[in-house]
Amino acid sequence: MESLDDAGVYQLTDELAIIQTVDFFTPVVDDPYMFGQIAAANSLSDVYTMGGEPITAMNIVCFPIKTMDVAILQDILRGGIDKMVEAGVTLIGGHSIDDSELKYGLSVTGTVHPEKLVTNSGAEAGDRIILTKPLGTGIISTALKNGKVDDQTVARFTECMATLNSTPARLMLAEGVHACTDVTGFGLLGHIRQLAENSKVSLRINPALIPLLPRVEELARQGLCPGGVGRNRDFYSAYVTIDSNVPAHIQDILYDPQTSGGLIIVLAAARAKQLIARLHQEGVGEAVIIGEVIGQPAGTVIVG
Ligand code: CO
Ligand code: CO
Repeated sequence: MESLDDAGVYQLTDELAIIQTVDFFTPVVDDPYMFGQIAAANSLSDVYTMGGEPITAMNIVCFPIKTMDVAILQDILRGGIDKMVEAGVTLIGGHSIDDSELKYGLSVTGTVHPEKLVTNSGAEAGDRIILTKPLGTGIISTALKNGKVDDQTVARFTECMATLNSTPARLMLAEGVHACTDVTGFGLLGHIRQLAENSKVSLRINPALIPLLPRVEELARQGLCPGGVGRNRDFYSAYVTIDSNVPAHIQDILYDPQTSGGLIIVLAAARAKQLIARLHQEGVGEAVIIGEVIGQPAGTVIVG
């Protein structure tokens, strides 16, 4: 737990370790079926980041049974199960409680060969950094709550969050990944900083290369940022140097907490272009190299 890795790992034998993770949250979209898919995709992601294969899952449900139509819960669970089927995961149980605020997620168990475990501590100087999904889910979510986004933007953001990280995880293993994590609540810079700290290297990212969801720049410029942006900045900015040319709204986007974000994949420069080509071939169309690992000072991030 000390290394802030994505999930817990327990070695059972020389050939087998289990990866365990749990995640649940309140709805980020109005459509209960899509919310179920997003919560499941998000919960499964931490197993993928560690190079594991998710095997089983248990539902975690908090539901206001006296005040909300049970059909909503059925739609959420159907969304979750559909994602589990897509991931080849078996639902083996769960637990639900009556709660005034709806929440849903999964506890997931995966397996990995102990020698093939991927962590956030293996980045080496000279490596390239790949990001597999566009940023901006926290900002769009805030705009959605304020009635400031169109249906098309909501559809694109929903589909992005519901997409499993299984394809990039499979391809990164084949290409020789050095380190991986996913972008969630701490924002891109928070998770990049954790990678820099654990790998004892410095990471440089070019903000001009980072893919964004539609309308995110415009919404960020209007100040439609979730509270997490400020909290992430307070927590991580001491380790991050941002070039003065990077506009304030772009800095906000880099600290935006993501729901079911993409993978940050670190691998040798010579393999990075090949991995991008394979990702694009297999439908991960927005995956792009966003920066590189430089040696020192360890634990720092440079933006610009
Ligand atoms: Co994670
Ligand atoms: Co997590």
